[in-house]
Order: sequence, then structure tokens, then C-alpha cells
Amino acid sequence: MSVPARTTVAIIGAGPAGLLLARLLQRSGIDSVVLEHRDRAYVEQRQRAGILEQGTIDVLRACGAGERMDREGLPHNGVELRFDRRGHRIDFPSLTGGRAVMVYAQTEMVKDLVALQLAEGGPLLFEARAVAVEGLEAGQPSVRYVHEGREHTLACDFVVGCDGFHGIARAAVPSGVLRTFDREYPFSWLGILADVPPSSDELIYAHSERGFALLSMRTPTVSRLYLQVPNGTDPGDWPDERIWDELDLRFAVDGDWKLERGPITSKSVTPMRSFVTEPMRYGPLFLAGDAAHIVPPTGAKGLNLAVADVVVLARALARWHETGAADLLDAYSDTCLRRVWRAEHFSYFMTTTLHPDPAQSDFDTRLQLSQLHRIADSETAAAELAQNYVGLPFE
Ligand code: FAD
Ligand code: DHB
Repeated sequence: MSVPARTTVAIIGAGPAGLLLARLLQRSGIDSVVLEHRDRAYVEQRQRAGILEQGTIDVLRACGAGERMDREGLPHNGVELRFDRRGHRIDFPSLTGGRAVMVYAQTEMVKDLVALQLAEGGPLLFEARAVAVEGLEAGQPSVRYVHEGREHTLACDFVVGCDGFHGIARAAVPSGVLRTFDREYPFSWLGILADVPPSSDELIYAHSERGFALLSMRTPTVSRLYLQVPNGTDPGDWPDERIWDELDLRFAVDGDWKLERGPITSKSVTPMRSFVTEPMRYGPLFLAGDAAHIVPPTGAKGLNLAVADVVVLARALARWHETGAADLLDAYSDTCLRRVWRAEHFSYFMTTTLHPDPAQSDFDTRLQLSQLHRIADSETAAAELAQNYVGLPFE
């Protein structure tokens, strides 16, 4: 593939944010080049999120990337909160004016977007590592990158850092310009994939004194489950039997529900953190997705926030391209941060309500249970959870 020395938008990172942005820009007639550090197989197989909000579903359909999602994805109209050995269902459509979510793995969304980009879009370079973002102050932005052992420079009008939490784009902003907000949690998630049909049709978020557990799924034959574990946990310390035994204890419920076991095909530990960068822009450099913010995974907001950012940015760039007006670009950071902080609060709320902190007192546990009972008993409290879970509509 021949790569131009200049493009309109240089996109660093081919995760969900970078790939979807490239697709949306192409639909508006704006050219871009996507630079991705890792190889295609790695990007397509990295196990991460699984829940698409209504707004994300709508955007994927509208940009022609929803065909396989509509065929293979699993629409979900509710979740179960499980605590004190009882389950309580939260029904999304009746509490949100008809909105719902879809189980469709991030890996599958990424595969669909990669295939479309390679078939119909502008250049997408794998194993192309951005090493510097330059010319921001001078208004002549460019990205230096290494591809096939050689260094290249890509000149552009805008750089978008879609390069995740550990990328280089955020670090290219001079110190003192950005303000960051940060919180770490005293626990992590051990996540597994297992070749066994999910033991429930809907997700189960379980609070127990032994720790949080989550039952999710990828397909009708593949379960995805998570266990709260101490920070620094080595997955090697968790043989399969120990994982299933612990899941059994945390999901224990009165009645005849049973957790089905099957071969575990993947195990990994993810730390939990909240993080926000303000503003999400420095001159011609824009930050989107995990490059700008991180949420703890409880509530499944990370991927959906990345999508929301690039929808706002693609609209702003389309307006600039058509009319020369920069008003939406100037509003980008504020527009995104309103949604980001809502999702930060919701993810924090879900995390701190459902996970016993190892240092917490019995008093704290009673408060968590009181909050969970309130959601189970009050339509108002349930609606607040449901509306945040399915996600705010795009304006
Ligand atoms: P990413 O998906 O991180 O993509 C960034 C891309 O940039 C990567 O492909 C990376 O290789 C590339 N890159 C980085 N540096 C460079 C460089 N210098 N040059 C070129 N390319 C570069 N969210 C949920 O909702 N539920 C979950 O269960 C969940 N689990 C997660 C588990 C893990 C281990 C992680 C890290 C995240 C998880 N998330 C989850 C969050 C969700 O997956 C992210 O919010 C989402 O991937 C963000 O998309 P993104 O495109 O912004 O960033
Ligand atoms: C999944 C991850 C989440 O963080 C969540 O809240 C629900 C589901 C998942 O990976 O399936």
C-alpha cells in the first residue's frame, strides 16, 4: 500500500476509537491515515469489552458496520442484580423509553471495522508505531512513525490520539496544559472466557461478602465471567477448579439456579482505575477514547465512551470540512467531557456499590446492601441505573 506523506487527519491507534473515526470521516469525504503499533491479529484478538450501548449500535448501523452485529449480536433488555442470595431484574425498555444494549464483543466490532477500512477506506497501517507528534504550536502538525524498520513523517491538518491510555499523543502536550483526575481501586478483575453456554440469558452483577462477580457472555456457547481479586493477582494462582468454586460461592442464590462449568480458554487480570484528562484538545491535536479517559469496567462504559468521542469529533470535522467553521471543533472537549463525567460517576457508583473494599467495615457493607435494595424496590432508583446503563442518547 502506498502511504501519502500528507493527509487531512492523522489517526494514531486502530482500536475502536481510531477505526470508527476513520470510517465516519470517510463517509464525510475527509481523508485520513490510521497508524497502528501492533499487528492485525493482535488488534483483532485482544479480549476486552462486550456490551454495546444503544447509541453505539445505532452509529455502527448508520455507518454500514452493523451487518454482522445485527446477525450475530445478542440484544439484551435487562440485567440482574444479585445480592443477599436473591436476584432482582432491571428491565431496560420499560425504564428508558425503549432503549436496550447488545452483547457483541469488542473483538468482533474491531474485526468488522478493520475489514471495511481495508476494503473501502484510506490507508490503515499495522506495525506502524507513532514515535512523536510535532508542529502543534506552529500549526503545522505531523506524526513521525516507524514502519517496516524505517522512519516516516505524516503531515496533516489534525492529529487524533486514539492510542489508548499508554499512547504517545497525550504525552505530546506540553506539561502544565492538561489537568488530570485520577482514582485507583484496591481490587482488580480476573476475567475468563469459557466454552460453555451462559448459565443465564442476561448478565448478572453479583454482590457478595466474598467479593464481586459478573456473569456475561460472548456468544450462545461462550461465557465471559469476572471475579473481583486483589491487586497484583497472578492468574497462574487461579487454577480452573478454584475459579469455578469461587464463582459458585459468589453467585449462590436461594432456589435451583446452577452455574454450568466448561473448559476455560483464557484468563487475565485487569486493574481498575478512573482517569480523566481536561481538556481533550491541544490546538490541532485531539484526544479520544482511552487516550483521554479511563473508567473501571463495572457498567461497561469504556468502549462506548470511545465511540461517543469520535462521533462528536467526526461531526465537528465534517462541519469544518464543509463550511470552514471551527465552532464544533472548539466545543469538542466540553461536549465530550459532559458525557465522560456522567460515565465516570456511573462507573464509580457501580464499582463502589458492588465491590466490597478489602478494608471496609460492616457498616459500609450495610450501606452497599441498602443501596442495592433501593434499586430493587424503587422504580425511580432502577430507572436511574437503567438510563445510565443503556447510555445517554447522542444529541
Ligand atoms: P484502545 O482499544 O486501547 O486502542 C488504542 C490503540 O492504539 C491500540 O490498538 C494500540 O496498539 C494503539 N497504539 C498505542 N500506542 C500507539 C502508538 N504509539 N502508535 C500507534 N498505535 C498505538 N471496557 C468495557 O466496557 N468492558 C470491559 O470488560 C473492558 N475490559 C477491558 C480490559 C482491558 C485489559 C482493557 C485495557 C480495557 C478494557 N475495557 C473494557 C475498556 C475498553 O476496552 C476500552 O475503553 C476501549 O478499548 C477503548 O478504545 P480506544 O480505541 O480508545 O483504545
Ligand atoms: C462485560 C464487561 C463489563 O465491564 C460489564 O460491565 C459487562 C460485561 C463483558 O466483558 O462482557
